[in-house]
Amino acid sequence: MNSKLIRQKFLQFFKNKQHEIVPSAPMVLQNDPTLMFTNAGMNQFKDYFLGDSDPSSPRIADTQKCLRVSGKHNDLEEVGMDTYHHTMFEMLGNWSFGDYFKKEAIEWAWELLTKEFDLPKERLYASVFGGDQEDKMPLDQEAYDLWKQIIPEDRILEGNKKDNFWEMGDTGPCGPCSEIHIDLRPQEEIDKVPGRDLVNMDHPQVVEVWNLVFMQFNRKADGSLEKLPAQHVDTGMGFERLCMAIQNKQSNYDTDVFTPLIDFVSKLSGVNYEGKDSKTDIALRVISDHIRAISFAIADGQLPSNNKAGYVIRRILRRAVRYGYTFLNFREPFLNKILPTLAEQFDDVFPELIAQQDFVAKVIKEEETSFLRTLEKGLTKLDGIMTDVKSTSKTIDGKTAFELYDTYGFPFDLTSLIARENGLTVNEEAFNKEMVVQKNRSKKDAETATGDWVELMSIDQVLFLGYDSLTSTSKIAKYRAIEEKGKKLYQIVLDQTPFYAESGGQVGDIGYIESDGKKTSIINTKKENNLIIHFTSELPTDIEAEFSCIVNASKRKLTENNHSATHLLHAALRDVLGDHVQQKGSLVNDKALRFDFSHFSKMTDEEIAKVEKIVNSKIRENIKLNEQRNVPIEDAKKQGAMALFGEKYGDFVRVITFDKNYSVELCGGTHVQATGQIGSLKIISEGSVAAGVRRIEAITADKAEEYNNVQEGVLKQVSEILNNPKDVVKAIESLVNERAELAKAIESVNADKTKEQKVTLAKNIEEYNSYKILVSEASFPDAESLKKISFEFKNEIENLIMVLAANISGKPQISVVVSENLVSTLDLHAGKMVKELAKEIKGGGGGQPFFATAGGKDISGLSQVIVKAKELIKSVTN
Ligand code: ALA
Repeated sequence: MNSKLIRQKFLQFFKNKQHEIVPSAPMVLQNDPTLMFTNAGMNQFKDYFLGDSDPSSPRIADTQKCLRVSGKHNDLEEVGMDTYHHTMFEMLGNWSFGDYFKKEAIEWAWELLTKEFDLPKERLYASVFGGDQEDKMPLDQEAYDLWKQIIPEDRILEGNKKDNFWEMGDTGPCGPCSEIHIDLRPQEEIDKVPGRDLVNMDHPQVVEVWNLVFMQFNRKADGSLEKLPAQHVDTGMGFERLCMAIQNKQSNYDTDVFTPLIDFVSKLSGVNYEGKDSKTDIALRVISDHIRAISFAIADGQLPSNNKAGYVIRRILRRAVRYGYTFLNFREPFLNKILPTLAEQFDDVFPELIAQQDFVAKVIKEEETSFLRTLEKGLTKLDGIMTDVKSTSKTIDGKTAFELYDTYGFPFDLTSLIARENGLTVNEEAFNKEMVVQKNRSKKDAETATGDWVELMSIDQVLFLGYDSLTSTSKIAKYRAIEEKGKKLYQIVLDQTPFYAESGGQVGDIGYIESDGKKTSIINTKKENNLIIHFTSELPTDIEAEFSCIVNASKRKLTENNHSATHLLHAALRDVLGDHVQQKGSLVNDKALRFDFSHFSKMTDEEIAKVEKIVNSKIRENIKLNEQRNVPIEDAKKQGAMALFGEKYGDFVRVITFDKNYSVELCGGTHVQATGQIGSLKIISEGSVAAGVRRIEAITADKAEEYNNVQEGVLKQVSEILNNPKDVVKAIESLVNERAELAKAIESVNADKTKEQKVTLAKNIEEYNSYKILVSEASFPDAESLKKISFEFKNEIENLIMVLAANISGKPQISVVVSENLVSTLDLHAGKMVKELAKEIKGGGGGQPFFATAGGKDISGLSQVIVKAKELIKSVTN
């Protein structure tokens, strides 16, 4: 059974059991402050478990793209070392939301594994939660008894909280779980050591395949468990491991999920994959794993960057490049070349990859190129460091090793490997200390303390009224205190609200809520999954009162101008540049709009002008907004609505149309009633944000007007300065030309003057004891002329000691020249001398022993410079 068939069979099995099959949520999360990446199939259903919203069906199944590289579930460092850990993996899952519970979950899992997939029953083990004293939880007897009816008791194991009580994070829905493990070892080994002794012992062939979680609790911030309103089932089966079991392989990497990738990289590098633990095998595994994580993250809209989720992706990518560089000898970008092989594998389940293949490859290539450069630089740096320490301690200190890690992406093992090859060591203990310091630092940066919700009333779903109204009468459903970077704030959830929560690039509304004449400011509104959360710096005094809620209307209106303008811009860009233009990011507030999109080259001035022209003509057409709510997603797609990759859409969506032949988008944001309200659009910049991603910044309405007024004002001033010529551009052009001619003329006059000056000065040279001494005041048009003359004298006259005290357009400057042969014989140093003389003009300077200059502030001191210079020279030449 190949992997595609296995996936299909899983979904079909649950479809037959009345499950709705839903698409995978994006791997990169947008509206969950507690999580950067989807780390389990249940993430997208968190609100259903907590009772914050209702599922479309009480039974759901899917395959979910997951990434476990940060937070509670982090497997990154294991990946590649063994045969079964991954960064990105698919989690097959079935869910019951308050519908069936343990009995069906257990029986169906057994039926699927043993009947459909034909896995050998006698090699399967089940574990159940054995209870926990701290949480005051007993053994999961119900699950135990259910298993007892299916398998012999000696294959049921009782597990502890770590293995058999599943929690999504520090807080959130959780519950006891029952895991199914499989023993894939050869029979002779099984005869020696029974599988039950190896369950949960990190044995590569005795692995967990399926986790059945019985969601019953919500873990609160204070650590306590609260019973959920209903009981649910949440299961997760590692797809790659399941394939290993069904295809009877020794390693996930030997299944057809990975072999095409490994084969490709193996061919590219000329290194064979042996499936062992050699460095090259590890490298091939690391690369074939990481390319999946990186590609899907980018396809979901997460570009590698320097912070948060983007940084995690960048680190995974660098880990892959580094393994390729060190162990497979890749010196040129190679990861991006795997894309076609990878994308093809998923064309039926995750079409977002094949649809964006070129874009994703381009982003990866750019990252690889720049990291390879950094690696090379790091190697040069390391060379220098090794030369330094070779003659001394023969140990690279921890700080240096850490800098190599932090700045150049050198993990400790690479630094120590290279050091060892050169007969040196690295101070590992000190390196680890630096690591701890950094970890603590970033932990502190990210720290936000969140209290538990205080529930005042129970609500199923927050009603958002803000599409139709900017006011409401509402009550507080729940609130909690949080601390963000040392600042205490409150989060409030209302039963209904006109406040738009930040999403889809549009900023959250501000405004206030009022009760009994007392106003509480809403300083921001954000989304957490489906909850709309209002931020305040204080709690209203009467928390249970009824509140008038008022959104700041002018800010909202200006924001709407920019949001609708973004849609018009998006459509115009596709018109002018082509259909490859995809939204890659957007920020819309009351001041401006920012739109990131996929496009591979800089836009020309003509293209920008064309886009601007189209948008402005659409604004003038005053196209009426057509807003459709609750449109079945398939209908919306039929209407040609543009959906964004990496965005999670429900079964019913909102469609925003400005002219059905021009702009149709799936969008949850708020918009103008007709495009005329936008006034006009002005693009103020176009540039690059990342490989293959361009950014346009634009303004609308009064901001565009202001911008145009300022530009016009500047032009007016310029015109006035030029005495209002008919053609300003021509007038400036001739001014510039004239200026250039004048500069040339002045230059030649100066040159003549300098020549004359030189003749005069030459006459002042005095001979004394075979020295030629020239000490004189003089005027020069510029410093360059003084320098030129000084050098000419130096080259033309032997045994020269010269001090010129110059007036350069009203500023004093001194030049000192000493013929090179005199520097040592007379112990004369032009630099030192000029320093001394500069005091007279309240200045300073310096230079070489044979030539030095100094500038100053006091021109009246020039005559004193002459007196002093003469004294100095006399004292050495006598
Ligand atoms: N949520 C459970 C897990 O991730 C199924 O293992």
